[in-house]
Amino acid sequence: MSSSTTENAVEGIRYALDGADGIVTLTLDMPGSANVMNAAYGAAMGAAVDRLERERDSVRGVIITSAKKTFFAGGDLTVLIGVTEDNVEEFLAGLDAIKAQFRRLEQLGVPVVAALNGSALGGGWELALACHRRICLDADHVRIGLPEVTLGLLPGAGGVTRMVRLLGVAAALPLLAEGRQLRPAQALRAGLVHELAADHDDLLARARAWLLEHPDAAVQPWDQPGHTVPGFRIDDPDTRQLLVAAPAVLHKKTRGAVPAPEKILSAAVEGALVDFDTALAIERRYFRELVTSQVAKNMIGTFWFQLNEVKSGRSRPAGVERRLTRKLGVLGAGMMGAGIAQVSAQAGIDVVLKDVSEQVAAKGKDGIAARLDRRVEQGKLDARQRDEVLARIHPTGSDADLAGCDLVIEAVFEDRDLKGRVLSAAEATALPDAVIASNTSTLPITGLAAAVPAPDRFVGLHFFSPAHRMPLVEIIRGERTSDATLARAFDYVTQIGKTPIVVNDARGFYTSRTFATYITEGIAMVAEGVHPALVENVARKAGMAVGPLAVCDEVTLTLPLKIRQQTLADLADAPDSAGSTGPRGLTDHPAFDVLELMVTELGRPGRSGGAGFYDYPADGPKRLWPGLVERFTRPEAGVSEQDVRDRLLYAQALETLRCLDEGVLTSVSDANVGSILGLGYAPWTGGTVQFVNSVGLAEFVDRADYLADTYGERFRPPASLRERAARGERF
Ligand code: NAI
Repeated sequence: MSSSTTENAVEGIRYALDGADGIVTLTLDMPGSANVMNAAYGAAMGAAVDRLERERDSVRGVIITSAKKTFFAGGDLTVLIGVTEDNVEEFLAGLDAIKAQFRRLEQLGVPVVAALNGSALGGGWELALACHRRICLDADHVRIGLPEVTLGLLPGAGGVTRMVRLLGVAAALPLLAEGRQLRPAQALRAGLVHELAADHDDLLARARAWLLEHPDAAVQPWDQPGHTVPGFRIDDPDTRQLLVAAPAVLHKKTRGAVPAPEKILSAAVEGALVDFDTALAIERRYFRELVTSQVAKNMIGTFWFQLNEVKSGRSRPAGVERRLTRKLGVLGAGMMGAGIAQVSAQAGIDVVLKDVSEQVAAKGKDGIAARLDRRVEQGKLDARQRDEVLARIHPTGSDADLAGCDLVIEAVFEDRDLKGRVLSAAEATALPDAVIASNTSTLPITGLAAAVPAPDRFVGLHFFSPAHRMPLVEIIRGERTSDATLARAFDYVTQIGKTPIVVNDARGFYTSRTFATYITEGIAMVAEGVHPALVENVARKAGMAVGPLAVCDEVTLTLPLKIRQQTLADLADAPDSAGSTGPRGLTDHPAFDVLELMVTELGRPGRSGGAGFYDYPADGPKRLWPGLVERFTRPEAGVSEQDVRDRLLYAQALETLRCLDEGVLTSVSDANVGSILGLGYAPWTGGTVQFVNSVGLAEFVDRADYLADTYGERFRPPASLRERAARGERF
């Protein structure tokens, strides 16, 4: 900086005037790890804007940048989660002041540049929108976007109003209502940022150069005379088409399960029809409704606070040094094994991909190559990165190649004897202290450990399908799994960028066992005569990622039958070894008659077999099999939509509570996060346990008792829940 620079900090915002060229640089450096929008920020920015206005005559331009890794992280969630009807007006008054600062900045009369040195999300992007030019560092860690919708909110600091005026309703909607986050190059293409910078010096140099060259560029597009929302004219057929189609398109994506997207659409469209200040008032009204809603509390609580707690390693044994995996062996190059190999190689780990022969393993690698090619086509990966990932994957048919592996994950067929054989062979070849893991989705880990000479180094690493995309991994601690092994399993899961939850061993662990209740409940309703389309639609409308019949087709109808067979055999051998309610859910359920009939008599084993609850015509999308209705559906079955919904949501919530009771789950955070990321449980609920909280424990107990009286004892709430409800406590 030149010698004539004057600099001082206004509580977290550095204000530096370069006397030589009249450029002021505001550097955001609020206390804490990131800049967030809260009262302290409001005060600091207010003081900075006051000073800019006072000294305007000596200011030729303003650069806003940040001293943190991110430019600005967004709203302060510790504040947002506490906003209620009682304090919302006070909260909104603070927000109004920040919005007024944005307005003062863009109407200061000198040009303002946002020099985005890192991610600008939510409120941070709203600040950037209030600048006349946005220049963005072109780096891997940078993301631009408005993720409020994923927390049940809308961008309430002018984000809806300015995005609509910048891009038009049609182009702004996907960013506002889906919360898409863009990389710098995508943000440039989308017209959100004006130029990219190669590094930090380049960023500030470009900002300065633009300001000096454009001293008059101090008017926002929406403040230009005659400005209209791009592509939006009420007398224009395209606009009318958009107004008719947008709610349906949005509904298809969100199924109406969460209120925020619809309110965003309303705010965008209503705001497009009026002047800027009225649009802000409309945005404020919708934001107020959302910020006080239970759904926003659920989503902020789980997707932010609990997710961070889970990721931060609350369940990782303390005192074990973090150790990264360098060479991974994957046994089985099928659907799961190939996915695990892919994500691991993407994280820089060398992978030995072993199957029955090198040819079979190579087929698994071919599948990975095809997926990576698609990512290259979509511009999400460059060709060099693809080649590097593929070069790390070594297909083989020989155990000898597992030499030097510090982690081995088994993903062969779900057959205990086979698993035992491949696990012990791998252990004999891998490093002497290697961690040995199984990706079994149902077999108890402690039982499998018997095949491994060193059971303290054995652990469950349960991935979800498709493994290269699903964000969760369930780590299962067997009776003899050591702390060091558990910690290394945890470190590996975070190394590959996934979210780990840690559970104790039981049949079906937490996720498979709970998910089974969803599938079997859906099938039970079909058996009772409920129309299958109603079951599927209500499930999706309730926010579940996939309907229970569709998901059963994916995992195959034979899988629950096989699991039941295995469970019954194990129970006969050792009645105490099988966990408590797991077997009841898995073996004694009205769904099994339907499954038997579908598989053995009707030859409809699921999607991979060409037919299941759905037909899979070669020339079109899947359709529910009409025979299902003919065989089962009875108009007099008379289960209300509300009951269908509650049976699906309550069955999973109740099984989760049993897992907590039995110590399979050791934390509510693991339960909530795992249910949404692993089971596709309705996100608006905040997860299976938060769902119970938000219904209210006493009401949940009453409703579960009603379901138990009407549909079966599997809905009877556990005694621990009744007691907790009686004490007036929550989870
Ligand atoms: P898959 O049938 O696609 O793949 C299994 C692979 O194991 C095949 O490529 C097969 O050739 C290979 N294999 C068989 N014997 C072998 C041996 N002796 N040595 C090396 N490889 C051998 O099965 P998928 O779906 O990948 O499942 C694998 C495991 O993952 C199972 O334990 C399953 O329960 C579990 N799992 C499956 C999920 C799913 O959604 N499919 C989800 C989570 C876990």
